[in-house]
Amino acid sequence: MPLPYVLLSAAVSLDGYLDDTGPERLLLSSPADFDRVDEVRASVDAILVGAGTIRADNPRLLVNSAERRAARTAAGKPEYPLKVTVSGSGDLDPAAKFWHTGGDKVVYTTDKGAERARAVGLAADIVALGDDLDWLRLLADLRDRGVERLMVEGGGTIHTQLLQQGLADELQLVLAPLFVGDPAAPRLFGPGGYQPGRLRLVETRRIEDVVLMRYEPTAPGTGAAPNAADRHWLRLACELAELCPPSETAFSVGAVVVAADGTELARGHSREADDPVVHAEEAALAKLAPDDPRLPTATIYSSLEPCAHRSSRPTPCARLILGSGVRRVVTAWREPNTFVTEADGTGVLTSAGAVVVELPEYEDRAKAPNRHLLK
Ligand SMILES: NC(=O)c1ccc[n+]([C@@H]2O[C@H](COP(=O)([O-])OP(=O)(O)OC[C@H]3O[C@@H](n4cnc5c(N)ncnc54)[C@H](OP(=O)(O)O)[C@@H]3O)[C@@H](O)[C@H]2O)c1
Repeated sequence: MPLPYVLLSAAVSLDGYLDDTGPERLLLSSPADFDRVDEVRASVDAILVGAGTIRADNPRLLVNSAERRAARTAAGKPEYPLKVTVSGSGDLDPAAKFWHTGGDKVVYTTDKGAERARAVGLAADIVALGDDLDWLRLLADLRDRGVERLMVEGGGTIHTQLLQQGLADELQLVLAPLFVGDPAAPRLFGPGGYQPGRLRLVETRRIEDVVLMRYEPTAPGTGAAPNAADRHWLRLACELAELCPPSETAFSVGAVVVAADGTELARGHSREADDPVVHAEEAALAKLAPDDPRLPTATIYSSLEPCAHRSSRPTPCARLILGSGVRRVVTAWREPNTFVTEADGTGVLTSAGAVVVELPEYEDRAKAPNRHLLK
């Protein structure tokens, strides 16, 4: 099972603040946008906020609409999403509304924080993650609890970490038409290392006087660790595989070459442009100059492991990739023995020093246009 899909949700002022420094929570969204947030909450399995937000805002984090709650129950889900918080210190007020409203709650904390949280008798499952809090372990634990979609509602410390660590699949940002102007107020994103290059804008929506913008990260991961952008690009490769002219004698595969800053360099699919034998990776790489300086740090996404042997042309795709300079490959599925035995493109690539990352959660999508070959 993949890690949960992580959706960051926040509202900011025109000058990029999440709140002011007054005692009351600053209302940035409009009524219709609060209703949209309610709808998003109703669609997820868990909602996470940092301990700082519990201390500052004392939120309840409920699905307010009775119809939406009824729809969740009718679909066999709990009435409310799981409520999750993160605290290093374990310094959490047991009287906060977070613990006394909605459904189940879980606190992820350190070993020391767990002692403190247990001592005050929080009405929650308290999970100690060691000396430090590791987001991957937290997400894996949520996955094991059945969480497929996680909505993160701040604050800035949490959003910053998830984005910087490449764990956020989507950012839903609402821009409110007001200024805060106080440098002591909390900002949405803090300093640090973000992905280079530009995120992908996937939607803008006017909601009364605020604007919702939805972004996806684009920069591939580095080395063997996949990030959220890797999953988006591999999903695109699987969509490209669906475009292939059908064949009884070759797989349908999609491929995308992506620069380290998240720029798409080229894409291709099997048998494209009336070439009956071209492979996806071959088609994509052929669209790039061989001396393109972005290739050595690029990642190639291929819905199927690049081939190690082929009869249609002299050079298999694993060798074409190595020849191009690309040293990172992300794929969904190893080539079965349908047409060649022991087709080990991964072995060819890794023995030459390339990194191959396999994301088996996309295997079914990659196989979908090839079902007829897999009987
Ligand atoms: N406009 C919006 O959409 C929106 C949404 C939410 C919040 N906000 C605002 O954001 C502000 C709060 O933001 P914030 O950045 O101060 O707090 P936050 O992100 O909600 O929570 C930060 C706290 O979470 C815990 N934490 C975070 N990362 C951790 C890690 N890696 N390991 C261990 N613990 C970790 C720590 O708790 P401990 O201190 O307990 O160790 C840390 O102090 C408030 O003013 C709130 O109103 C605005």
